[in-house]
Amino acid sequence: MNAELPPSSYDGVADVYDLHWGTASFLWLRAFGLLVLPQIARGARILDLCCGTGRLAGELSRRGFTLVGLDGSREMLRHGRTNAPGVPLVEADARRFGMRPTFDVVLSTFDSLNHILTLGELQSAFRCVHDCLRPGGLFFFDLNTELGYLKHWNESSEIVGDDHTMKATALYDRRRRLGLFRATIEQRAGAQVEEVELRQRCHASGDVISALEAVGFTDTETFGLEQEAIVPDCLDSAERAFYLCRRPAATAGSFRPSTRRASKGG
Ligand SMILES: C[S@@+](CC[C@H](N)C(=O)[O-])C[C@H]1O[C@@H](n2cnc3c(N)ncnc32)[C@H](O)[C@@H]1O
Repeated sequence: MNAELPPSSYDGVADVYDLHWGTASFLWLRAFGLLVLPQIARGARILDLCCGTGRLAGELSRRGFTLVGLDGSREMLRHGRTNAPGVPLVEADARRFGMRPTFDVVLSTFDSLNHILTLGELQSAFRCVHDCLRPGGLFFFDLNTELGYLKHWNESSEIVGDDHTMKATALYDRRRRLGLFRATIEQRAGAQVEEVELRQRCHASGDVISALEAVGFTDTETFGLEQEAIVPDCLDSAERAFYLCRRPAATAGSFRPSTRRASKGG
């Protein structure tokens, strides 16, 4: 399996995504409201990692938070400029980005981190997140669970929009813990056809927690989405897992600026 999934994989699906799923991450706003909101100040600085078409970043920005969005897909970010006006949007790879430790919260929603296909790369994304948080800052994200894949990733679907049709199949390979989403998008006007293939990894919760701890996160809590309820410590019976952890208040950062300052007299 190629671990180097290009971060631009969503380019071909960006228009359809924004139209049909753009607001789906609002579902996780409730979890954010319950678990993160009580711990942060109004105006807190938030990085939306893998922000997609920027709907959630726009919504949080309208609620008075200071947002930055990061995504690997230029086309998803193009929608983000409309959906999240005034929010700085950065095109970068979640597995290897560097930002100064200025964020109070990093959040990542709607399976985004399942797109990182190996545990090593997930851990390197976690390290980047850790290093861009202020000491004491929070990291909140969701992942699809095995139950979620088994329930929702063995089906075909067809979406008919005003000017396009998308035929998609989602398959989950339980042995390899790998989800494969394939879509054909047909634009009616120009008869243009776009083929898109997206892959996701079902990361085991024990591995995720170990990877978080390995880069320095503490106080990890897990919550499961069961039907409509957000339940603590129940990942085996949940379709979606939420993780909340903290960069400790007192550790030194390992942030290394990418441009070196020339040393005098060296
Ligand atoms: C399912 S969408 C979720 C988007 C958004 N968070 C939401 O809730 O609507 C997954 C997003 O993750 C981004 N993504 C996947 N792998 C990435 C990577 N390695 N670096 C940056 N972005 C990535 C994709 O471009 C896509 O926008």
